[in-house]
Amino acid sequence: MPLRIHPSILNADHDNMQRELDRVVEGGADGIHLDIMDGKFVIPVTFDIHTIERYVEMCDLPFDAHLMIVEPEKHVDKYIQAGADLVNFHLEVAGDPEALIEHLHAQGVEAGVTINPDTPVDGVLEVAHLVELVLFMSVYPGYGGQEFIKEVLDKVRTFKRYCMENSLEPMIQIDGGINLETAPLVAAAGVNTLVAGTFIFRSSDYGATIKSLRDACEGVEPDW
Ligand code: DX5
Ligand code: ZN
Repeated sequence: MPLRIHPSILNADHDNMQRELDRVVEGGADGIHLDIMDGKFVIPVTFDIHTIERYVEMCDLPFDAHLMIVEPEKHVDKYIQAGADLVNFHLEVAGDPEALIEHLHAQGVEAGVTINPDTPVDGVLEVAHLVELVLFMSVYPGYGGQEFIKEVLDKVRTFKRYCMENSLEPMIQIDGGINLETAPLVAAAGVNTLVAGTFIFRSSDYGATIKSLRDACEGVEPDW
């Protein structure tokens, strides 16, 4: 699978979102990563439904909704209705992950699961054959601009080996602290989808930054 780059719009300029989205589209992004926070699973609160609907209208790329919310099963439908193409929930707070994945597919969207830096990989292995995306948090969720937690790479390698052994090809996504130093490390470990927030949106030329991330991962030797 060619490397995908999904800018996280958490720290974009929300007063000028059409321009922000146009710039990442023109810059070659493959999807938009939408960080949804409820003030319970994480302290901040982000993106009401109306805002999500407006952003989806502004941009033709697929939106992956990263739900940092408790009791995701109670809330997923409104994000589907708002236009998310993929809904991704945290395994730490899902009552019945398999049922929720089934529900998402029945509603016509793709499904993803996420684990925090200190959550073991076992739960992911159990549902890997059911999902289109697995997200490994490489920072504690809640805020952009944090430092990458290198220890997460071991879980990514374990998961990549599991995928190869079981002929699975989900998006393997990583989120938090991605830049030119960390991108090649995660690519070597088996990540095929980079989420990058501040590294893209704090740069002056989004297209050049997206390309630099791709170039940094080009030809890295796998170490899984
Ligand atoms: C953190 C979010 C991330 C965040 C990444 O809770 O899930 O998507 O925006 O930001 P950077 O790339 O700045 O670490
Ligand atoms: Zn995220």
